[in-house]
Amino acid sequence: MDFSQYNNIYIMDHPLIKHKISMIRDENTGTNEFRKLVEEIAMLMGYEALRDLPLEDVEVKTPIETCMTPMIAGKKLAIVPILRAGLGMVSGITALAPTAKIGHIGMYRDEVTHEPQAYYCKLPSPIEQRTIVVVDPMLATGGSAVDAVDQIKKHGGINIKFMCIIAAPEGLERLAKAHPDIQIYVGNVDRCLNKDAYICPGLGDAGDRIFGTK
Ligand code: PRP
Ligand code: URA
Repeated sequence: MDFSQYNNIYIMDHPLIKHKISMIRDENTGTNEFRKLVEEIAMLMGYEALRDLPLEDVEVKTPIETCMTPMIAGKKLAIVPILRAGLGMVSGITALAPTAKIGHIGMYRDEVTHEPQAYYCKLPSPIEQRTIVVVDPMLATGGSAVDAVDQIKKHGGINIKFMCIIAAPEGLERLAKAHPDIQIYVGNVDRCLNKDAYICPGLGDAGDRIFGTK
């Protein structure tokens, strides 16, 4: 599938991101290393996703003289992981933006229908004044991402970005069509979904690999 027609989809091409994604795909990568790599990928992608943060000039006194110099403007950032697996990406972004507020959206996929089941939503306020970065390593059918962005919009969120490490083409298209006003950052677009709605080749169950469950 060709995503070049979507001007709100950004697919990462940095070799460091590609390399680290290959490492987390490896079934021999253990929990500790997996977690560190997810954090590093999130930081590298965050650098890209936050390049349009608004700046304002503030007065700073250097040891030499006083000058006007740019700093991040306004109410700044809210990072919103989709539980559980999104939690693994939060520290990578707070390493870049330590003052970001953090919301949480809880949902899991029904094993039979693959539809998202939402169980929790707590967002920092005033949400409408923040740049919101929703994070989840996996975008499979797209159901969870579409639902999470729906919830954020219902709470008043306006300026929304979605960041995932691996996307299936069908899920990416679904999210881009459902929410054409958000920016979507993707580490890699994989081949397809299998009959259980897992991404191929993917990396398996991201939550289980981050938290060492199963
Ligand atoms: C995974 C993943 C996404 C969702 C993607 O979470 O972290 O949230 O599946 O699938 P979708 O695009 O088809 O909705 P999961 O439901 O396995 O929950 P977990 O993070 O608690 O393991
Ligand atoms: N959730 C995951 O963790 N992995 C997939 O491949 C699909 C959904």
